[in-house]
Amino acid sequence: MGKSVPKHVAIMMDGNGRWGKQRGLTRSEGHYAGAKTMEKIIDASIDLGVEVLTLYAFSSENWSRPMEEVNYLMHLPVKFFKQKLPEFQRRNIVVRISGNLEALPTRTKTALKNAVNETADNTGLIVNFAFNYGGRDDILQAVRHIVKELQDEKMDLTQLNEQVLQQCLYTKELPDPELVIRTGGEKRMSNFLLWQSSSAELYFTDVFFPDFDGPLLEKAVRFYQEKNSELIV
Ligand code: IPE
Ligand code: IPE
Ligand code: MG
Repeated sequence: MGKSVPKHVAIMMDGNGRWGKQRGLTRSEGHYAGAKTMEKIIDASIDLGVEVLTLYAFSSENWSRPMEEVNYLMHLPVKFFKQKLPEFQRRNIVVRISGNLEALPTRTKTALKNAVNETADNTGLIVNFAFNYGGRDDILQAVRHIVKELQDEKMDLTQLNEQVLQQCLYTKELPDPELVIRTGGEKRMSNFLLWQSSSAELYFTDVFFPDFDGPLLEKAVRFYQEKNSELIV
């Protein structure tokens, strides 16, 4: 692209259910179409030179959806990684997960952990799946960790600063996202990367996630570049 591309792009993949409904399909069929779109967005991110792509796949609030839909969303990572992991390996992709894995059904947790372990030595695009992720939960679990360190006298209160807290978040080794995209027309944070997005550019599009694609991602990146033109070299 020539101009400076955001290192970390985070996407709230919203609108799968409405996309399905619009076509007379089920919400789950919308989620399946969304998973197919994820593949395209991963390809486009590699082409653009993005280093980290965070995909919001399941929020800590999504448990309140109908059981059948939750079951399908728990099954999707199992199906997705079974199909895609060999290709991820070939493409040198690193899989990360941000979220509370312990609360997941065993099969889902195993599929996610396995994808992380199998790709740990790769060096290409980092695809960080935010799964059972909530921004408040993220901060709260970091606070719990810090309080424990203080109680165990492994840390002194004077040492506690933003960087220390940042290192306790689910996203610990990742840079903050410079660009946060939400598809599907809503303009909400929905508990996504609350700490990490403090200076991110926000980009909203009405397009439902299954219809999102490489050129639309590029358009969002151009929006970011226009906002940050002084950074362009
Ligand atoms: C995808 O879109 C987000 C997930 C929770 C997987 P939605 O399922 O929220 O779709 P809409 O917003 O109801 O259309
Ligand atoms: C945000 O979408 C969560 C994901 C994209 C996974 P939601 O559809 O769940 O958010 P709300 O309910 O509109 O806030
Ligand atoms: Mg939604």
